[in-house]
Amino acid sequence: MNMESFLSNNIKAALKNDPPGEWMPALPDKCIRLSSGYPEPSLVPTEQIKESVVSLLDMEKDLPLHYLGSSQIDKLKGHIHQRLTERAMGVQEDELLLTSGASQAIDLIARILIDENCVVALEAPTYMEALEIFQNYTEQFISIPVDELGLQTEKLEEMLKDRNENGLPLPRLLYTIPTFQNPTGTTMTKERRKHVIELADQYNFLIVEDDAYGELSFDQPSIPLKALDCEGRVLHVGSLSKVVAPGMRIGWVSAPAELITAMNWFKKDLDHPFSQATMATYLDKADLSERLNTLRTTYESKCGVLLSALEQYLPDSVSWYIPKGGYFVWVKVAGVDTSTLLTQALNEGISYVPGKYFYLQEQEGMSYLRLSFSYASKEEIVEGVRKLAKVIGGLE
Ligand SMILES: Cc1ncc(COP(=O)(O)O)c(C=O)c1O
Repeated sequence: MNMESFLSNNIKAALKNDPPGEWMPALPDKCIRLSSGYPEPSLVPTEQIKESVVSLLDMEKDLPLHYLGSSQIDKLKGHIHQRLTERAMGVQEDELLLTSGASQAIDLIARILIDENCVVALEAPTYMEALEIFQNYTEQFISIPVDELGLQTEKLEEMLKDRNENGLPLPRLLYTIPTFQNPTGTTMTKERRKHVIELADQYNFLIVEDDAYGELSFDQPSIPLKALDCEGRVLHVGSLSKVVAPGMRIGWVSAPAELITAMNWFKKDLDHPFSQATMATYLDKADLSERLNTLRTTYESKCGVLLSALEQYLPDSVSWYIPKGGYFVWVKVAGVDTSTLLTQALNEGISYVPGKYFYLQEQEGMSYLRLSFSYASKEEIVEGVRKLAKVIGGLE
């Protein structure tokens, strides 16, 4: 039977794109994973989560195992609400929705806002999974380049002006990762943050602020776009994946109440109440601020090791941005197709993500690659860069 004939037009269109997750190749055993945007394994609080599960079930018996049985879920909302308030993002109770990670939040946003003829503005490069999600809903995109100061808002303004003058549709939303961007690691300056909000007001679009790495600053924290927004145009998406444990799938979106109601409409029971209740129990005991300090110092030190190794081993033709937080370093290997190079790198036992996966127009990313300093140990990072240098050196 021809199953394709049963598929919706939406998925038929989406299936024309590359399959989801294509950027993650099968990794050989003992591969040094400079590709993985996972937390440092020793900092995943395994024992504390185990204790939280036991304590939750002792306390509430079968309740957390029902659909929405646990009172702890409201407590989790309370914890998140409090952190948002501490970061100058005052939101009302009906302006916050818990989701299965930031990924579900992005999907719900796309679901309620994007029709197939809607234009979405994206950073170039951008987080590949968000790119895939938006591609499930529309084929209309505009890309705005990112440099070491974040999204180039003056380029966005030029594009908006141009579209306006030529009667072309304006974007309904802009998706941006202003702080410690994935993949570039760069952070939007305060001037650009103010500018992008002014542009959203002037050209009437919404901004999705993906803040997955926002709390992982090595020095001064940045002011979230949401904290600068007076009109309610910024939908703030957050996650505990990068600061506690990604497998627990805890994320959220804070947005105007009408939009939260619309997202709730689609979300139904597609999240994990047991995981949410466990996380709330964990956060009741854990000191999140202290944990964040440990994460920041650890990642700053691992990032330093990666940057020193790049300086030491890579030729002068290779360049990179220096991040002030987050998980990633964005590397340019001029004149080289980094996706072709990956096979050799994997044979040497090191993985990275080729730059092309972060772009709508893949060729724009051909000579870039993303390295992560979060998951591999310091020793592996140095060894991994040495191997990378060997692969790159072999081309010369
Ligand atoms: C920018 C960005 N947003 C969202 C996510 C996904 O977060 P979650 O695990 O909460 O779905 C990631 C994970 O890599 C990310 O880099």
